[in-house]
This record gives sequence, C-alpha cells and structure tokens, in this order.
Amino acid sequence: MREILIKGQLHKFESFEEFAEEFQLGSEDLILTNEFIYQPFMKELNLDCQIVFQEKFGAGEPSEEMITEIFKAVKPESFKRLIAVGGGAIMDIGKVLSLKRTGSVHDLYFKKAEVVQEKELIAIPTTCGTGSEVTNISVAIVRDDNGNTTKLGLVSDLLIPSSVCLIPQMLKTLPYAPFASSAIDALIHAVESYLSPSRATMTSELYGVKAMELILEGFRRIRDQGRDARFEYFDEFITASCYAGIAFLQAGCATVHAMSFPLGGTYHVPHGESNYALFGKVLEKYDAIKPEGKIMEFKQTIARILGGTPEHAIFNLKELLETILHLKPLREYGFKKEDIDIFTDSVIENQQRLVVNSYVPLTKELIKEIYQETM
Ligand SMILES: NC(=O)c1ccc[n+]([C@@H]2O[C@H](COP(=O)([O-])OP(=O)(O)OC[C@H]3O[C@@H](n4cnc5c(N)ncnc54)[C@H](O)[C@@H]3O)[C@@H](O)[C@H]2O)c1
Ligand SMILES: [Fe+2]
Repeated sequence: MREILIKGQLHKFESFEEFAEEFQLGSEDLILTNEFIYQPFMKELNLDCQIVFQEKFGAGEPSEEMITEIFKAVKPESFKRLIAVGGGAIMDIGKVLSLKRTGSVHDLYFKKAEVVQEKELIAIPTTCGTGSEVTNISVAIVRDDNGNTTKLGLVSDLLIPSSVCLIPQMLKTLPYAPFASSAIDALIHAVESYLSPSRATMTSELYGVKAMELILEGFRRIRDQGRDARFEYFDEFITASCYAGIAFLQAGCATVHAMSFPLGGTYHVPHGESNYALFGKVLEKYDAIKPEGKIMEFKQTIARILGGTPEHAIFNLKELLETILHLKPLREYGFKKEDIDIFTDSVIENQQRLVVNSYVPLTKELIKEIYQETM
C-alpha cells in the first residue's frame, strides 16, 4: 500500500507579500480568489496578474454550473500558472481549472472525460478545514442521472497542487462561523482517516493524531477563553488542517462525508457543518456495533488529549464541540422524512469511494437509522 504522498512543496509565509516575492508573481499568473480576500491582502501590492473573483460566477460551494461559467470566462491560453487563494471551494475550482479541458465539467466529475494536467497550480488555503491544498480530490455539486443534486468528488493525483503555501495570518478575516465549521471538518478528516479500516497507514495515523491534538487544544482554548482565542492559534489550526489533509489523502474519509454529501448538495449546508450534523451519531453507532478495535484506541487518544476516561471520550468530545458550534437536527436545514430513502440511495449509488472506508459495514439499514436519529 502507498504509505505517503505529499506531492506539493510545502511553504509557510508571514504574509501574502512575502509569498508574492518568493514566487515572483507576474503577468502569466492567474489568481482565483474572492474579492473580500483580495482587498485586504493583495490589492495594495498592485500585482501584475490576472485576477478572477469566484463570486462573480455564483454563490456558495462549487457547482457544475458555476465551474462551467468560469471555464467560459477564463481562457486557458491567458495564463500559465494558477494560484488558488481561498477556502476549499476556491481550491477545488482551481484544481479543475488547472486541467486540460478534455470534456464538459459534468463529464469530468462523472469520470467520462480524461484527467490531463495542464497548468501549474499553487494552493493557498484561507480556511482551516478541507486540506484540499494537499489532496487529490475536487468536490462539486452535481446533478446525477436521476436528476437529484449531490456532491461528487473527482479524484486524481494529477489534481494535487504542486506548491502549498500556508499563510496563517490570512485566517484573520475569516468570520467565526466558517472558521468553526472548517476546523470541525478538519477534525473529522483526522478521525475518519484514523478509523479507516483498510487504508489507514502508519503515516496517516501520525498526521491524523497530531491534527486531532492541535485542533482539540485550540477548541479547548476557545471554550475557556472565548472565540477570540483563535487569533493566537491560527498557525496551529492551518497546520492541523493540512496534516488532516495528508492523513485522509492516504486513508480516505468515510461514513460522515458519504452521508453529508447529499445533505450539502440538496440543502446547501456548509460542508463542515453538514459533516458535524452526522459526526457524533456516526461515532456512537461505530462504538455500539464494534466497540473493540480501533475505536477503543480512538477513545483512549481522545481521553489523553481532553482528559476524562475513554468510556466518556465520545460524550466529552461532543460536549466540547457543542461549545464551538451548536449542533442542529437535520430538519433545521430543510431535511424531510422523504429524504431518508432518497439520500440513502444516493449514498449507496454515488459515494462508494467513501462507503468502503466505513469502520463498520455501511448497510442501507444503518444509513437510514443514522439519518432517522439525526433528523
Ligand atoms: N478537495 C478536498 O480535499 C476537500 C475536502 C473537504 C471539503 N472540500 C470542499 O471544500 C468546500 C468547503 O471548504 P471550506 O470549508 O474551506 O469553505 P468555503 O471555501 O466554502 O469557505 C467558507 C466561507 O468563508 C469565506 N472565506 C474563506 N476564507 C476567508 C477569509 N480568509 N476571510 C473571509 N472569508 C473567507 C468563503 O468565501 C465562504 O463564504 C466544500 O465545497 C467541500 O466540498 C474539499
Ligand atoms: Fe471534509
């Protein structure tokens, strides 16, 4: 089994300016970002680059329609290097935009068009969640053959950015809500890869555990000292989300992500928040169905980090997370009873790459039970 893949060169910078100098940004570069990130961090540098603002092409997380519009507006011959500066949404769009256009956006996500790399891609995350800067996945909201919307991951090692630049101070402008949901997403990456039964590797565990330690320490500080405590801890949060990305690149995500994708795709729930809505229940089910094995080690690890006993670890973890982000039942996002069957079928049909990594066999019955008990 492949033990580790860190394809990109990892860099850390104090400021965007420092990055721009080191990489000698110029007229052949295209920066894909949001205007509210460009204004405070880049505008005053008067960069001689092509700048594209994602929000001009639609709001929210990437969809086939949004990426298609970006493809129309941005000509491949107009740039050589692509710099994606933003959250997971921007980095995932950047990944597809760096490819040769071998088919429609729909064809790419449904694996009907070949993935061929064309442009050099530099990723600069401005949330502390997805780890997309180091992973081989681009996720978009798509419409499947049955006409239902869900989220689908396009997977290829050719999507991994060649350079990753972590600039912790770029988290300064991130409001608390997306900060919290992205940090919880990173924690879930670390946990899902840690519990991945067949694909966990010695390196995924190393990075996963370190990510859990850093994120939970940050959450503890926020609980004890208030939300502003995060400002002193951005370096650790952005490092942890990168580590969690390295962990799940090897070991894969699982049940939580598989079940959250129809929810995020249908009701446009932010990615981290839709994962969070399912996370605690999934851990409880794992623990009830197969208490011996890796989940026991997981509970010991959580008890070591948070204090308390392994028996209470899942409860204590959920309690800490509640102080970071209030857990809402699925119905508050629009989820209806009829969705139980529709989403369950969608998980089985569209998310097999994640279903296979579940800690316990993820049957239709179990999926339904989890949706039922979280709604
Ligand atoms: N490719 C992968 O490996 C991978 C893994 C997990 C999730 N994802 C995808 O990533 C997306 C979620 O990414 P995310 O959690 O980073 O959220 P996001 O990219 O949607 O960003 C969250 C919000 O914060 C804003 N924002 C981001 N950085 C900011 C900053 N520094 N200052 C002010 N505002 C800022 C964004 O514009 C957005 O409104 C989803 O589309 C999800 O499917 C990808
Ligand atoms: Fe995620």
